[in-house]
Amino acid sequence: MPSGARADETPGRCYIRPMIASFSQWIPWTDRAGRLSWLKLAFFIALLAPAIWMAIEWRYDLYSARPLADAIRESGDWALRVLVASLAVTPLRFVARWNRLILVRRAVGLAALFYTLLHIALWCVELRFEWLDILRELVSRLFLTVGLVATIVMAALGVTSNEWGIRRLGAKNWNRLHAWTYAATALSILHYFMESRLDVTEAVLLAGLFALAMAFRLARKKWGASFWPLAIAALICGGVTALIEAFYYRVSTGVNVARVLGANLDFSYTIRPAWWVLATGVAIALLSIFRAWTAPEPVRGRAR
Ligand code: HEM
Repeated sequence: MPSGARADETPGRCYIRPMIASFSQWIPWTDRAGRLSWLKLAFFIALLAPAIWMAIEWRYDLYSARPLADAIRESGDWALRVLVASLAVTPLRFVARWNRLILVRRAVGLAALFYTLLHIALWCVELRFEWLDILRELVSRLFLTVGLVATIVMAALGVTSNEWGIRRLGAKNWNRLHAWTYAATALSILHYFMESRLDVTEAVLLAGLFALAMAFRLARKKWGASFWPLAIAALICGGVTALIEAFYYRVSTGVNVARVLGANLDFSYTIRPAWWVLATGVAIALLSIFRAWTAPEPVRGRAR
């Protein structure tokens, strides 16, 4: 009997579990034992919904007169939104004391890669797959070069995001490699800012949420997932978001920094991204109090 097999198992059976585990990692709605996971299924449907909506927009002519350009932008938007969301999974897992969230982290990361590849494929369609033109564009337009570097990093992370990748690299190197998610996200946000013309509201919001995800990760590691460190991190990130917006407009249009900062206090037109970042951060900090009260046992284990 191979070592590790239980006495009541036939010799062949002890190989079945690893086989199921390695096969089920490719099925988006099953857990490692091959059983249906409602949480994974719900995330799978939610992550697929934007692509289905894009297909409907395409099929029923809901895009503007330039449908391809619209689809390129929309897929890019979803790629970045999902990428930023993927960074929120681990901090949320600890703050919400919801260990099962770890089951969906990989799916969220892969969905970001999926929307990125869709975004690039649509752009190649726009250039009619003229490879020389595509290459020339990629090297001559800086915002595209930045996007390309981000994509290469994301692809490396996607390829190694499975059991094979962890085994092959070893846990330490795997963690080191996957820390590059932050660089890929920062480059993707830069790509968005460089491409944006007038309105950078969503780019600023995503930059602020990215800062929040990073700050929460640091705060949790240093002081634990409790209210005050998270609330202070939220306050700082709200301020950082306002500064990012002010400096972007300063550099791109020359508008006075103080004027853009002042616009944050004018609620008659719209609520600026800095407030949304602050509100999100404070809501998560409050969640930590609620969960400490309803689920006294904190999540233990590695952040991976
Ligand atoms: C080789 C890699 C990439 C190429 C060739 C590329 C191409 C483009 C192009 C041509 C646009 C401008 C669309 C327009 O204004 O009509 C754009 C915008 C955008 N891209 Fe990419 N991109 C790449 C990588 C990425 C990555 C990795 C992300 C994020 C994960 C991303 C997210 C975005 C976003 C958010 C926009 C702005 C969409 C908007 O204006 O609403 N791109 N990209």
